[in-house]
Amino acid sequence: MLINYATPGSPIGGTLIVTVSQDRKLGPAGREIDQATGGMIGRAMAASRFVGKKEETLELLAPSGLAVTRLLLVGLGAPDAANELSFEAAGGAAVAYLNKTGESEACFHLEVPDGVDLAPAQAAAAVGFGAGLRAYRFDRYRTTEKPEQKPSLTRLTVMVEESAAAEAAFAARKAVLEGVALARDLVSEPSNKLTPVILAERCVNLAGAGAGAGAGLEVEVLDEVRMRELGMGALLGVAQGSANPPRLVILTWHGAPEANDQRPLALVGKGVTFDSGGISIKPAAGMEEMKWDMAGAAAVIGTMLALAGRKAMANVVGIVGLVENMPSGQAQRPGDVVTSAAGKTIEVINTDAEGRLVLADALWYAQSVFQPQAIIDLATLTGAIIIALGHEQAGLFASNDALAEQLTAAGKAVGEPLWRLPMGDAYDKELNSDIADIKNVGSGRAGGSILGAQFLKRFVGDVPWAHLDIAGVAWGKKDSATMSKGGTGFGVRLLNRFVAESWEV
Ligand code: BES
Ligand code: MN
Ligand code: ZN
Repeated sequence: MLINYATPGSPIGGTLIVTVSQDRKLGPAGREIDQATGGMIGRAMAASRFVGKKEETLELLAPSGLAVTRLLLVGLGAPDAANELSFEAAGGAAVAYLNKTGESEACFHLEVPDGVDLAPAQAAAAVGFGAGLRAYRFDRYRTTEKPEQKPSLTRLTVMVEESAAAEAAFAARKAVLEGVALARDLVSEPSNKLTPVILAERCVNLAGAGAGAGAGLEVEVLDEVRMRELGMGALLGVAQGSANPPRLVILTWHGAPEANDQRPLALVGKGVTFDSGGISIKPAAGMEEMKWDMAGAAAVIGTMLALAGRKAMANVVGIVGLVENMPSGQAQRPGDVVTSAAGKTIEVINTDAEGRLVLADALWYAQSVFQPQAIIDLATLTGAIIIALGHEQAGLFASNDALAEQLTAAGKAVGEPLWRLPMGDAYDKELNSDIADIKNVGSGRAGGSILGAQFLKRFVGDVPWAHLDIAGVAWGKKDSATMSKGGTGFGVRLLNRFVAESWEV
């Protein structure tokens, strides 16, 4: 779907979209259209339950007095609560509705209600962003869909007085849309189509992405042999049960001016392309969900694409550990002891607590090669975080309060909320092994997500570090205004905003 910007008054085709605030309040443009149609909007609202709540829609077909196929009213909610996210939701709700109607073209008449603290250009860019998010669809494996089952909308024009400014504001968001779409694609791919080697190749294809003249992303891939040389026994132990060999991919974006010599921010992602549990095998029910156990890696890769695409003024390195966790005659056993690249020995009590083993070596690599200013890791690490927080917020663990606050603020602003959980020495003791430096699980099920975070912390030095447990938010089972069900790409918008607010020079 094409998204573009124009000034009001330009010719419009297809559907005209108008926003309505809570309690059926029209803006000046809405009132004008109401008059032109002989009061049709007012009568239609009065005849329905539509009151202008966020994401609500009301369709008015073939209005007389206007050269459009239909009017679509979209709710914005209460003006005193309206923000960027309300406009994203309005754009998304309109696209979702129209895609089912057969309509191919629409114009969104932007109005910012009085009292909403948002520049029209920013609101217009948000409409385009929400529309773009909702237009996403993972359909590469559908071969028998009839035309009437396919989404119909091909073009959305947002009409706003400051159309050039809106277009400029949308350009940066377009790069983020591409990053989110990539992350969602990767999360939705089945594991037979996305092995560690294939995922690494898809990263290599991003080299140079988003910028001209060799100024794009740098991508480096480490294979098994190289990882063996580096002593990555923790990651390799997970990989050894699978016929699909592991990879470690490093994506680098140099966006800060050379003179700044900025030490990078490191983003580290868990990329388990399938998690069967290994010898500590998972139950059959729902195991197919473990194709998206690489959502942390997908978020890191999508963020790197977004940063390169909008030429972010920051130095950021993304490191993803890609493995498949399978049971076999070669697989690691419960009770095995492996030596991580950091030199610490790990007793693998449960082969299903594999993400932390992969991350231990990826975190070591991030620190020893890049001396980053801060590290953020993302991982579908524990089922326990779903018990704690459900599917509404991701778990946040941090060694540094300022970093935690910046991430929380970024998440809130983009609609990817984080909830911080505690850490501490009393939890850490649970991970002491009888025969090695550390074991990979505690003795019971208590505090599962916290123990996962404590395990990672043992592999992080003095550098400010945060861990996002995204197991509950990486996959959506139902549609929302800006997200159809499936992979969410959770983390891309958040990390992009975090970099923009707290990292760019
Ligand atoms: N990938 C899983 C966590 C997970 C579960 C993600 C459900 C998404 C949905 C992880 O590798 C895992 O298996 N964790 C174990 C840890 C346990 C053995 C300490 C878990 O959560 O049961
Ligand atoms: Mn597991
Ligand atoms: Zn896992």
